Amino acid sequence: MNTGSTNDNVIVFPKGDNTALRLPRLIGHRGARAYAPENTLASLHTAADMGVEWVELDVKLSRDGEPIIFHDETLERVTGASGLVADMDWKDLKELDAGAHFSNSFVDERIPHLEQALDVIIDRGIGLNLEIKPCPGREKETAEIALDWLSRSWPDDVPPPIISSFQLVSLEMSLMMIPEYPRGYLISPNEEQTVDNWQKKAEHLDVKTLNFDLSFFKDNPEMVKEFLDTDYTLMCFTVNDLSQAEELFDMGVTSIFSDMPDLLD
Ligand code: G3P
Ligand code: MG
Repeated sequence: MNTGSTNDNVIVFPKGDNTALRLPRLIGHRGARAYAPENTLASLHTAADMGVEWVELDVKLSRDGEPIIFHDETLERVTGASGLVADMDWKDLKELDAGAHFSNSFVDERIPHLEQALDVIIDRGIGLNLEIKPCPGREKETAEIALDWLSRSWPDDVPPPIISSFQLVSLEMSLMMIPEYPRGYLISPNEEQTVDNWQKKAEHLDVKTLNFDLSFFKDNPEMVKEFLDTDYTLMCFTVNDLSQAEELFDMGVTSIFSDMPDLLD
């Protein structure tokens, strides 16, 4: 069932409560990852310049407990430095180059603090799916600290962000701290704990969206049927192919996470 053209926004959770949201068909994955270094301020500006209405970002903690926007547990791929994010303080992390790996034109781009990313997001008027992506063992405190920053910064008159995670403890903390922010249950075959008994877990966490790995769509139609048989708003990551996106929308998926803000143009 396709409700319109691929670029139409879709209203979800219209249950008469205060969580009604207008979701776009496309959410910029890590900003505009195909066109700028992922999870940087440049990536947010690029996404906004390209007309993206919502972005997805990953948040984790530095050793000294500052919430930073970064995907990997290790520093190597994005910064060229060795070691673990969890072993480095914010004052040192912010000196690393997070842009040169992408191209010379982004040399000197830095790992953003959550506060800096929120400033850009709020200033540019874009929506946010914040993925809590804790370093191992820091599932609870990552959610606690990130959501504390988020709830203090997010304007009351702007639709709430979606909080998602593969980590059930992080989602549980989100439910306890800010129940009114919709939660997204991230599910992937690479994260076994999200797949076992997923319906019970999603129900316990009172999630609004089910954010599923594209690999289910490719390899596991039975599982996709399970997703479609629920009332959850369905979102799929990471989709960089237009015909796949259209198939997903036709099946009933509301939004895709894409590295390419212009995929549906
Ligand atoms: O939130 C969707 C997607 O970002 C989850 O996977 O590994 O890209 O953070 P990953
Ligand atoms: Mg992510």
